[in-house]
Amino acid sequence: MNKNAIGVFDSGLGGLTAMKELCKIMPHEDIVYFGDTSRVPYGTRSADTIIRYARQDLNFLSTFEIKAALVACGTISAVALDTIKSDYSFPIVGVIESAAKAALKISKNRRIGILGTQATVNSGAYERKLTEADPNCKTMSIPCPLFVPLVENGHTDPNDPLTNGAIELYLSKLLPFKADTIILGCTHYPIIAQAIRRFVGSETNLINPGKEAALTISSLLHENGMSNNAGVGKHSYYVSDSTDNFETYGSVFMGRSINGEVHKIDIEKY
Ligand code: DGL
Repeated sequence: MNKNAIGVFDSGLGGLTAMKELCKIMPHEDIVYFGDTSRVPYGTRSADTIIRYARQDLNFLSTFEIKAALVACGTISAVALDTIKSDYSFPIVGVIESAAKAALKISKNRRIGILGTQATVNSGAYERKLTEADPNCKTMSIPCPLFVPLVENGHTDPNDPLTNGAIELYLSKLLPFKADTIILGCTHYPIIAQAIRRFVGSETNLINPGKEAALTISSLLHENGMSNNAGVGKHSYYVSDSTDNFETYGSVFMGRSINGEVHKIDIEKY
């Protein structure tokens, strides 16, 4: 099983935002998901640590003889991907380029807000991609370090008071910038998109990078004759800590039970 599979990974639950879309648009593919739940969050760590973790994550996924990998993590895509991608023989797709393209396609006033982890914001990766493609585009980036622990601990209800407090704290800084488009630049953030949407209003476009990257990897596999066109894809989930939270909150987000499909591994072995 899983030979010829697509590998998807993140520090935790966030990559499920890509996984959900991938399952929908590529129903014939086997997909192996890894969430590094024993070391989440990545976004507060140094570049060296993020690069080391990302290598171990990919080394683990490589044991499944995957045909491609989706880095369903803004932090790894921004900080580690360029350094490590040539070490692997399969194509590796990150989230930055796809999300930046989607934002530029939809923004009318060319004012784009970027929410991300501290590491993603510090890297300047989104700003670079956006302004390279359109030098007239203006950006404002806000690090939102409380969002990942809130999501990992299940504070995802749109009425959750803690999550709404954090949204107000971070996004009130962005409102005067008058962005018509906001990139939810950490894959955990679309899980609380409903509450974010309520705060910024219905006119603002919200970009989900996991979803955009899933569309990119799907096109890449189709164009290169690497996609499966028959059979029902098998999905398996691996985490590096207890499976309980991941099964509970992952099932809520995926809209179906993943209980019993999640396995624990020791990531330090890879
Ligand atoms: N979901 C990840 C991202 O897109 C990682 C967040 C974290 O672990 O800090 O950045």
